[in-house]
Amino acid sequence: MKKGVLYGIAVLLPLVPLTAWIVGSWQQFTEPLGAAFFGLYVPARAFGLLGFVLMFYQFLLASRIPFLETVLPRAQQLKTHRTLGKVGGIMIVLHGTCMLLFDMITLGSIAFTLGKLIGIIALFLLINAVVAAWFLKALKFKLQTWRRIHYAAYVVFPLVFVHAILIGSAVRGYLAVRLLFIVLLAVYAVLLVRRLVGGQPGTKTKSPKAPKVSAPASTPEGTAGAEAPTA
Ligand code: HEM
Repeated sequence: MKKGVLYGIAVLLPLVPLTAWIVGSWQQFTEPLGAAFFGLYVPARAFGLLGFVLMFYQFLLASRIPFLETVLPRAQQLKTHRTLGKVGGIMIVLHGTCMLLFDMITLGSIAFTLGKLIGIIALFLLINAVVAAWFLKALKFKLQTWRRIHYAAYVVFPLVFVHAILIGSAVRGYLAVRLLFIVLLAVYAVLLVRRLVGGQPGTKTKSPKAPKVSAPASTPEGTAGAEAPTA
């Protein structure tokens, strides 16, 4: 596969849920629903849907998938992983905070539901992982601590899936969006099992005498396989 095709798919995929939602809710967008609706709720929904797909990309980029490595060199995957971590992290934080603000403005308090609570827990874990990765040097974390916090991102993805299935109008309302989310979760599950069974992908040596696999020095521990996904 050519790099351009891969990039094309990567750009188009997040547009699937977004388009399904916008086209299906067009009537609603033409109604005078107020500044909080258009300024907070609408962007929050868009950031949530986009953030979910970007989060999925983070797992792909961190998993040393042989096919992906033939299209995108490992170093470039790690660079993209870091960039997406920042972009996706900001989107997801905006999603959560805008949703909470929307509740505060329209209801005067936060309307807690199980789905929302799961979202808040997921956001908390994700912020920890993103902050640990972003401020690694400044925070002077031990490698082991950084790893543990960063790996917490693995719990976030299924949590967000449940969160979205429980309260997401686009996910609940449109079969295409629901199917996409289920497929992404299934791929995530395969990658997770692969990692749990095989350890950190790409860091194994074939025999005790085989040389150690060296990784780009830019990863905190110099072992690219330890890179865990953040949004
Ligand atoms: C403070 C934390 C969070 C709050 C308060 C929150 C709030 C909400 C609310 C109220 C909805 C339902 C919107 C609707 O359809 O009417 C929603 C949906 C959604 N949220 Fe969150 N969320 C939080 C964290 C997260 C996180 C960390 C993610 C990660 C990407 C996320 C992704 C999604 C997705 C994908 C949907 C489905 C959107 C749709 O179906 O249109 N949320 N969230």
